[in-house]
Amino acid sequence: MSSADGGGTISPAGSASRVLPGLLPGQPLTALAPMQDVTDLPFMRVMAHYGAPDYFFTEFFRVHGQSRPEKHILRSLVENQTGRPVFAQLIGEDVTHMVRTVKELLSYPIAGIDLNMGCPAPKIYKKNVGGGLLRDPARIDTLLGALRDAVPGLFTVKMRIGFDSTENYERVLGLINKHGVDLLSVHGRTVKEGYRSNVHYDHIAIAVRTVRCPVLANGNITSADKAAAVLAETGAAGVMLGRHAIRNPWIFRQCRERFATSATHTASRPLSSVLCPPSSVFAPTLADVREYIARLYRETQTPDIPERAHVAKMKKYLNFVGQSVDAEGKFLHEMRRAMTETELFAVCDRHLLTEPTKPFATEPYPGIIARPNCETPVESCSLDTVTA
Ligand SMILES: Cc1cc2nc3c(=O)[nH]c(=O)nc-3n(C[C@H](O)[C@H](O)[C@H](O)COP(=O)(O)O)c2cc1C
Repeated sequence: MSSADGGGTISPAGSASRVLPGLLPGQPLTALAPMQDVTDLPFMRVMAHYGAPDYFFTEFFRVHGQSRPEKHILRSLVENQTGRPVFAQLIGEDVTHMVRTVKELLSYPIAGIDLNMGCPAPKIYKKNVGGGLLRDPARIDTLLGALRDAVPGLFTVKMRIGFDSTENYERVLGLINKHGVDLLSVHGRTVKEGYRSNVHYDHIAIAVRTVRCPVLANGNITSADKAAAVLAETGAAGVMLGRHAIRNPWIFRQCRERFATSATHTASRPLSSVLCPPSSVFAPTLADVREYIARLYRETQTPDIPERAHVAKMKKYLNFVGQSVDAEGKFLHEMRRAMTETELFAVCDRHLLTEPTKPFATEPYPGIIARPNCETPVESCSLDTVTA
């Protein structure tokens, strides 16, 4: 298995931790959460511009009898110039086809293989894949065993804490140990809790205490301060951030600045005692956000997408960005009505360049949600269906 550009080397098997080093060794790890329709090559490039996470994960490769690794997802591996490693995520349950896909992906520059055990879309979990697997620990046992045998390098898992309850949780964590998983990302909600319930960080702490590999804490980590608080509460090795990295692409840089220290955070030296004061953390202005939107527009534009379709795609990202622009949600209201590039950027200019030095809020404004009319993910884990 090759490692991605600049991604470092894989520690030898049998060492205390086989995970790839982060950008600043000794600091808690950061990762961009895999997000379907979001974490493609252009988006990763934009994130890297503002401060890359330690690890990237692809959106999921769908695995079934007729599947071949999707070309557009392969691009995020082959053309990765972010300097950070990219894990290839798979969703599926058929052992033969999962192993076949792993073998195919091993010829690409991947940091490792990640198994999706969390997608909450009914269309997905009804096929017993993604979050659906969490109902069937025996199936997980078989699948983890086969994948572990097939992956010579890093094998990682991303899971929720259960399907509709946490009754299988500790059993599944035992299977993570049994099969020597190298890194575990835990989204602290059940499948049925979707994306908007409270996150059960206490259950992430249970994973940290139970498994032998490093754990990334995931779910509603909105800022560097929140990341620090979640690390202190859970004892996790790092954080995985999704929607709030779309809202605030500086978040990984801010985490790094917040964590900056020569000391390593350990159980005997709690993170709170080694954190930098918040004042040394970069604070973007509304003008910086205007520049981010222009960059995202340019990077995600392709000749085959008509202008209106591209504007519609931009609105999906801007639903998240708008949560921190103004407390009344006026930017969101106007942005959702724009149909053309000119209209969209006129809205941006009005809201972001009238007071360009005003700070972009670190946390989302209370009550401003990304997709107010869309409560349940239906088809898949896409921006059309996932709320904030
Ligand atoms: C638009 C969108 C797409 C997602 N697609 C995936 C995916 O492909 N694989 C996966 O494991 N999780 C997926 N997720 C879940 C995220 O990785 C993450 O676990 C979840 O959003 C919670 O983290 P957050 O609160 O930081 O966003 C998706 C989430 C969103 C919002």
